[in-house]
Amino acid sequence: MISRKELIGKYIDFFKSKGHKEIPSASLIPENDPTVLFTTAGMHPLVPYLLGQKHPLGKRICNVQKCIRTGDIDEVGDEVHHTFFEMMGNWSLGDYFKKEAIEYTFEFHKKILKIPIENYAVTVFAGNKNIKKDEESLKVWEKLGIPKERIALLDDNFWGPAGKTGPCGPDTEMFYWTGKEKAPKKFNSKDKNWVEIGNDVLMEFNKTGEGKFVPLIQKNIDFGGGVERNLAVLNGLDDNYLTDCFLPIIESVEEISEKKYNRNKKAMRIIADHLKAAVFIIADGIVPSNTEQGYIVRRLIRRAIKYGNELRMKNFVAEVAKAVFEIYDDYAELKENKRAILEELDKEEKKFQITLEKGISQFNKFASNKKISGKEAFLLYQSFGFPLELIEEECKKSKIKFDKKEFEIELTKHQELSRTATQGKFKSGLSDQSEKTTRLHTATHLLLSALRIVLDDENIMQKGSNITSERLRLDFNFPRKLTAEEIKKVEDLVNAQIQKSCEVRREEMSPAEAKKKGAIGVFEKKYGEKVSVYTVEDFSKEICAGPHVKNTCEIGHFNITKEEGSSAGVRRIKAVID
Ligand code: ALA
Repeated sequence: MISRKELIGKYIDFFKSKGHKEIPSASLIPENDPTVLFTTAGMHPLVPYLLGQKHPLGKRICNVQKCIRTGDIDEVGDEVHHTFFEMMGNWSLGDYFKKEAIEYTFEFHKKILKIPIENYAVTVFAGNKNIKKDEESLKVWEKLGIPKERIALLDDNFWGPAGKTGPCGPDTEMFYWTGKEKAPKKFNSKDKNWVEIGNDVLMEFNKTGEGKFVPLIQKNIDFGGGVERNLAVLNGLDDNYLTDCFLPIIESVEEISEKKYNRNKKAMRIIADHLKAAVFIIADGIVPSNTEQGYIVRRLIRRAIKYGNELRMKNFVAEVAKAVFEIYDDYAELKENKRAILEELDKEEKKFQITLEKGISQFNKFASNKKISGKEAFLLYQSFGFPLELIEEECKKSKIKFDKKEFEIELTKHQELSRTATQGKFKSGLSDQSEKTTRLHTATHLLLSALRIVLDDENIMQKGSNITSERLRLDFNFPRKLTAEEIKKVEDLVNAQIQKSCEVRREEMSPAEAKKKGAIGVFEKKYGEKVSVYTVEDFSKEICAGPHVKNTCEIGHFNITKEEGSSAGVRRIKAVID
């Protein structure tokens, strides 16, 4: 068995022997790239150097970089997908190019990892209408003794950029045969027994904001190899969760749940993957919340809890997470923040448990009619964070009918609405709305209307909105600071609508009809065929995905805590309710 630490050690030693300087892993939170939430590859923190800036350590760099890929969250549960993983990387920053890069990689695979050539295959860029075939790499591989039928020419062998813009280029990938029988003569990249163990990106281009590929000032090499899958194949395992990157976490779950991994693979993998990722993200300074990276951590922890509940585990999150610290004792940020990280996990678990309990009591109210409608189930799901599986399970237990079809219709409707409302960004916590954020959401509508009335300006529009469980934040166009008197008037007007106990009505109509009826719309062109319009008597009418309270009396007392400039011509108000 080769361990994680041995593999990493061999990799770094080898590239150091080839003149590379080791750099530490950068934070999971990108410092210079607002287009992505997390560091997704080893090259990501090196983008300025790949674009030509001088690196203080020279032109040959290597490291092991922690990465998060959130695109895979729903696929986690099989043998190979992870949210958190480590990537071995080496870079040439305008130094060596294709020939040496391929030679180094092959030498590492053959001599150091001792991968037999019979089990080895590669892919090379076949060319497309813009960029020509990579003849050079093809020749290098052939010269190294890789048989022709083990070299696949593919037209999608192109990697990057990591965000929306940046360095990228054709790549050449290496595969290892993991099948039980002898490796076939001819390589087929679609055969799952061939596992990708490395990728040399031959960086020649910079993708610009307009989507153009312009030649880079310097040609670079960006190699990446996943630690987990390398370990699995080298140890003859067909499941990454059985490597020492995961096994201690799986064993801890087995012990706490008193259940066997073999019979509960999916749930245990999800718990192990998600809690490991959550530990690392929190270690880099993020706490669970309803926005951006914080929302991802919340989602990871809550998903882990949901699967833990399936295994009948309770209050287990921090306990299971302890195993992560044992595996990764080479990360100072974990060691130094262990207590705080475990406390944060514990806090989130308790919070979610309370939400779930509230959901149960709401469920019981609905259940007194001996059936649960799809709409009611959706409310449980949406406002109380009640997982669907749990609703079904509870219904079964209490022998109650449940209209799943109607639930699914509601869910699709909501997803479509939130997709349009969030402009393609990931759902900003909408699928995780608590009762408090729902109240704040309705308060935001009242606030916008109150501003239009008090400032006597029909052109005031929402320029941005961000709601956490603590406060609302509304950005709107207005040229100057509000006076204390105006702020007070706005507050009073909102509170008057709350005290009047106005009904909040939701209707569906076409965007054109909504406009005709005088509804305020924010992202005009982004709407789908039908939109929801929320109306509060004759005070407020807005196109919105919701959710909102049924009656303004549910909101509570409204208080503006801050009024400030946000950008040119845009003011920002923060407000709370109690
Ligand atoms: N940046 C390349 C990858 O992520 C190496 O595969």
